[in-house]
Amino acid sequence: RPLRFKPFSVTFTLMLSVGAAVIGSLQFGYNTGVINAPQKVIEKYINETWFQRYQEQISESSLTAIWSVSVAIFSVGGIFGSFSVGLFVNRFGRRNSMLMANILAFIAATLMGFSKMAGSWEMLITGRFVVGLYSGLSTGFVPMYVGEVSPTALRGALGTFHQLGIVVGILVAQVFGLEAIMGNDDLWPLLLGFTFIPAVAQCILLPLCPKSPRFLLINKNEENKAKAVLKKLRGTSDVSSDMQEMKEESRQMMREKKVTIFELFRSPLYRQPLLIAVVLQLSQQLSGINAVFYYSTRIFENAGVQQPVYATIGAGVVNTAFTVVSLFVVERAGRRSLHMLGLLGMAGSAVLMTIAVALLEKVKWMSYLSIVAIFGFVAFFEIGPGPIPWFIVAELFSQGPRPAAFAVAGFSNWTANFIVGMSFQYIEVKCGAYVFIIFTVLLLGFFVFTFFKVPETKGRTFDEIAAAFRQTAGGGGGGAAKHSPEELNSLGADSQL
Ligand code: GLC
Repeated sequence: RPLRFKPFSVTFTLMLSVGAAVIGSLQFGYNTGVINAPQKVIEKYINETWFQRYQEQISESSLTAIWSVSVAIFSVGGIFGSFSVGLFVNRFGRRNSMLMANILAFIAATLMGFSKMAGSWEMLITGRFVVGLYSGLSTGFVPMYVGEVSPTALRGALGTFHQLGIVVGILVAQVFGLEAIMGNDDLWPLLLGFTFIPAVAQCILLPLCPKSPRFLLINKNEENKAKAVLKKLRGTSDVSSDMQEMKEESRQMMREKKVTIFELFRSPLYRQPLLIAVVLQLSQQLSGINAVFYYSTRIFENAGVQQPVYATIGAGVVNTAFTVVSLFVVERAGRRSLHMLGLLGMAGSAVLMTIAVALLEKVKWMSYLSIVAIFGFVAFFEIGPGPIPWFIVAELFSQGPRPAAFAVAGFSNWTANFIVGMSFQYIEVKCGAYVFIIFTVLLLGFFVFTFFKVPETKGRTFDEIAAAFRQTAGGGGGGAAKHSPEELNSLGADSQL
């Protein structure tokens, strides 16, 4: 079957829509990375504020507690935010939900930006929670909207823009957080309040973007509007194949108009895609990537690297570069193979890292090997495990269950993120250099799962993917499926050029 949408059908409206949406991803990345560099500076402020209030020095344990809460509460906000995605997208639509979420970004920026002036670390903590809420919502809204406006042949490449937004956000935060820029006593409130600016930009740009055509047609039954939007997005007046495919999906959906999270878990129809979506989220987080992004400076220090801050920024650059690589190959190589390659490469890099740290005492140049290992770890992450889990959720589910699926997937992702962020320091103390062995074992486990369970989705319409899963589920009470994932894969293969 020939591809229906040629890659050159990239229109201005399409790029504007994707660009405006991924400002939400940028905010998520920025707030993931921003708290790393200025730790010492903000701790000093907390200490001073404590002294003003209580006329005594803060104890080590209180300071650690306030700091840890300020860092980790972001993921708690993310857990709540991602889980609430379904409350918004069907009621207000995808685009308007993204627009509304900016209220949270403004509140968060204000709270964090003025916490120093007000002498209140409580404001800082609340701000981090609120921006976590925003970020959690974004991890659902953005891939959902991008998946729904993209032509099938570009869904993976454009889906990767969500991750690109995140990694650029992390990199910008790393650079802004340098002492010479904003990571100092005077300017750190500005560093945290910076979130205000992308929020303004998104509020200006989103109203210029179309609503999701799938939302208009399938949820709202507004055929003419959906058609008009599609014409703009595709840059052609013949959008009949798109319309036909959506109508087919809509017809199939009559029975599953709106699927609640509870129904998602109960129906055998969704068991397979749900398992895949959740395990892929776990593979992303339990790969240990955020051990690097939260603690890289310390990891490099322990590995004997001279300028750990710059090595950290180096990791951010490698991170961004390889996300771009993935963007260009994902429609050719496919999701499944890239994900497997990424996991395997990360496992190899983790072994290398362990060797480097273990031999550091004896062999001086091992610190260089550790840099290579961490860069490799990050590069392989962005080839597959970084971008793919986010956008594949949109591909694995049709319009009805999609919002609930995003809620469950996002919840799994953020919870795993929280667990790694909280426990890494403690495990590292216990296991020392061998902490990366744990990730190696997990990575290999996820590799095996992907090999056996994850179908290829590239080049297939949402409806085709859903139909393939329906057949799988229909093949007999749960276990004995008519179509194995391998057959799903071959189904996918013949829709390629
Ligand atoms: C992914 C993860 C996020 C991580 C980032 C690193 O987006 O979800 O937790 O920090 O990649 O690039």
